[in-house]
Amino acid sequence: MAKAHCQRRVQVHSRRLALTPLPSHSASPIGVFDSGVGGLSVLRALLAELPDEQVVYVADSGHAPYGERDDAYVIERARAITAHLLTHHHIKALVVACNTATAAAIHLLREQHPQLPIVGIEPALKPAVGLSTTGVIGVMATRSTLRSDKFQRLLASLEGQARFVVQPCAGLALAIEQFDTIKIEAACAEYTGAMGSFGTKTGQIDTLVLGCTHYPFAESHLRAGTGAAVRYLEGGAPVARQTRRLLQAGQAICAGRATGSQQVVFYSTGNPLTLESAAKRWLGLEQSVLPLAV
Ligand code: DGL
Repeated sequence: MAKAHCQRRVQVHSRRLALTPLPSHSASPIGVFDSGVGGLSVLRALLAELPDEQVVYVADSGHAPYGERDDAYVIERARAITAHLLTHHHIKALVVACNTATAAAIHLLREQHPQLPIVGIEPALKPAVGLSTTGVIGVMATRSTLRSDKFQRLLASLEGQARFVVQPCAGLALAIEQFDTIKIEAACAEYTGAMGSFGTKTGQIDTLVLGCTHYPFAESHLRAGTGAAVRYLEGGAPVARQTRRLLQAGQAICAGRATGSQQVVFYSTGNPLTLESAAKRWLGLEQSVLPLAV
């Protein structure tokens, strides 16, 4: 972990904050977690936006998929992982790289850790409204995300601005997690088929929001159902920009790192080989993944 190039920040510990280990300075890592390998689509954007930062990535693959669980389960997982990242890695910021966990738990994480900058992800409906020319927007996400109050409020706030075709995609995240090409293909065909007509003509879906961080890794299979003209939106880049803004505001940004330092440390609560091959295949990162029991 490079320290020399990073500005130090004085942290004021109140009595309340003393209960939670705090990030001590800008050389501390950013914590990132997802139910599994899907958060790598957010990590990719984070590394591009913040190339000098150190990151600790936790794939909760041993407890995936979150999208098929109830809120209490996801909240408990989010709390346990956040506590682990604070206690053992002294993270200076947290990125919840999972739409499902953001919808279920981010307000509670913020309540519990008011001093920790926390960035979540939500389906990119607002940008989609600005980009769609047909005014028909497809949204694919987990059942939990779509039924959440957070998503329902977002949808209601855009009423009248577009027509949203909302599709729960049970099983798709798990199939991606398992690299099961046959199931991925079948789920993508089923769900795009159920959404209606895609294209740029009047009445067609011309913009597709990928509201689960796993789905960008199924893009080639989704394209078979939507065609090439449809615009896909994922949330990684806005999350990365928001993380930069929060770090800058807290003077916690890292200005440079030592050559050769390892930028990401990977942990998995499931089979480490799954995350290892996903990181290599999708991000070109060849690193071993450490097992984690939380
Ligand atoms: N990647 C997660 C999301 O963005 C959830 C996938 C799952 O575990 O169901 O919603």
